[in-house]
Amino acid sequence: MDVLSSSGTASPSPSTFSLSVSDTPGAVNTPDTTRSLLFDDDVAADPLDIATTNTPFIMVVGGLGYIGSHTVLELLKANYNVLVIDDLSNSYESVLHRVKAIATEHFASQDRSMPALHFRQLDYRSACMRSVLASYSSYSIGAKSDVPTPMEDVVRALPRGFPFSALQRTDSGIDMDDDASPEPVLRRESRITGVIHFAAYKSVEESIRQPLRYYSNNVCGMVDFLSLLEEFGIKNFVFSSSATVYGEGANCGVPLREELCVHHPETFVDSDGTERQVIPGVLGLTSPYGRSKFMCESILADIARSDPTWSITALRYFNPVGCHESGILGEDPRQKPSNLIPVVATVLTGTKPVLDIFGTDWNTPDGTAVRDFIHVVDLARGHIAALAASAAGRVKAPFRTYNLGTGRGHTVREVVTSLQATAGRTIPVREVGRRAGDVGFCVAEVGRAETELSWRAEKTLADCSVDVWNFTKGRCQPQSHDDMVC
Ligand SMILES: NC(=O)c1ccc[n+]([C@@H]2O[C@H](COP(=O)([O-])OP(=O)(O)OC[C@H]3O[C@@H](n4cnc5c(N)ncnc54)[C@H](O)[C@@H]3O)[C@@H](O)[C@H]2O)c1
Repeated sequence: MDVLSSSGTASPSPSTFSLSVSDTPGAVNTPDTTRSLLFDDDVAADPLDIATTNTPFIMVVGGLGYIGSHTVLELLKANYNVLVIDDLSNSYESVLHRVKAIATEHFASQDRSMPALHFRQLDYRSACMRSVLASYSSYSIGAKSDVPTPMEDVVRALPRGFPFSALQRTDSGIDMDDDASPEPVLRRESRITGVIHFAAYKSVEESIRQPLRYYSNNVCGMVDFLSLLEEFGIKNFVFSSSATVYGEGANCGVPLREELCVHHPETFVDSDGTERQVIPGVLGLTSPYGRSKFMCESILADIARSDPTWSITALRYFNPVGCHESGILGEDPRQKPSNLIPVVATVLTGTKPVLDIFGTDWNTPDGTAVRDFIHVVDLARGHIAALAASAAGRVKAPFRTYNLGTGRGHTVREVVTSLQATAGRTIPVREVGRRAGDVGFCVAEVGRAETELSWRAEKTLADCSVDVWNFTKGRCQPQSHDDMVC
């Protein structure tokens, strides 16, 4: 396996990594500071110039974050070559080494060679993305009759510095009437056969304070990125969406089905056999973050409608929790976390004295909110299932949404109890009022993903607790680095 660091140098050999955290503190615990070492020229000077090979890649944008890193690992395990793009705004380069360590161990145990893992430290909005995509494209000269692409598109597709002489000769019309010598044209084919897009800011609270930052990265960034992908003929796109797009619909107290939030009019048959019509739109989105997800979905739906050669799946995550069972890969954000499990982890380790439970007067068995907690490894596998379904033509429309959840709800108090039992520690809690915009019950209807993606969540809340504790206690071991959680 090849891992390129942002400096373009190869990372240490996989054999130097171990799954033991304490054996490899430097590899797994030292966060790198945000750097931007990649310049346009680096791409061309890349010692690992994959332009000479023919291997397909999946590009994972935001691939070192919580869900992205687990997905990259599952992609490697499923034998996909992976190109990770991440600007490390909410993650650390050490995550790449953790993924690599686990994958190395996995493939060594099976006596198989590992797929390629490439990394570029890059904002996906950066102009350098064009060079990266160009370096994953192959160019060939073919007969014009084979390629119905207009010449201006072909010229636009040329890499900088391409010798124009061949094209100019045919443009001049010299060979126009000679059927025996068809005009040569440049064909470009990308080795990137699919893109999974995780790169977004995700704090609801921060999005209310800094909406422009969120719309710029989450919405404008995606729009420009899609234009670039289209230019390179990459039209297989998996988008990280969220149950937040259901807005007020999440208050209905029953599992949420995808048709509760659509972007173009749809008809569907309800569980009671009645045919229903749905009109686009959703009520009750309460934050710029939630709106950014809804907007992105709408944009994607419009693109797919205008050009059905796209295959776009928007995966609506419910509540991702848990981490890899090794205990070395988990949720490790740069920014202060606000979601339940990382906060519980900081209470377990003593960094935070008490866990606030928001709302204890919901109409639920113990009064705390019910959520569909899905193990992040199950969630990661949902992305592989989406890619496979798309490749097999099982995705029913050029734009399709899927809930990724378990279909089963747990209260916040059940999660706390489960983690306490696993850790053998008490988690002090403080009951506080509901937060604005919270809902009492948010659980996925999962039939569509089961039928069309052949995917189902398999792990339980107990699995999540074991893995979270494994990760949390691993980070509590005394080490010499100053990025310890406790
Ligand atoms: N974690 C959740 O509870 C949850 C729930 C629903 C949806 N989502 C969505 O899933 C996706 C991934 O979430 P996560 O929990 O892994 O978040 P994360 O913050 O851990 O990961 C996002 C990654 O993207 C990177 N990134 C952000 N902006 C970037 C940019 N402009 N260029 C390159 N890299 C960039 C960050 O450095 C980070 O590594 C996000 O789109 C998020 O909105 C998350």
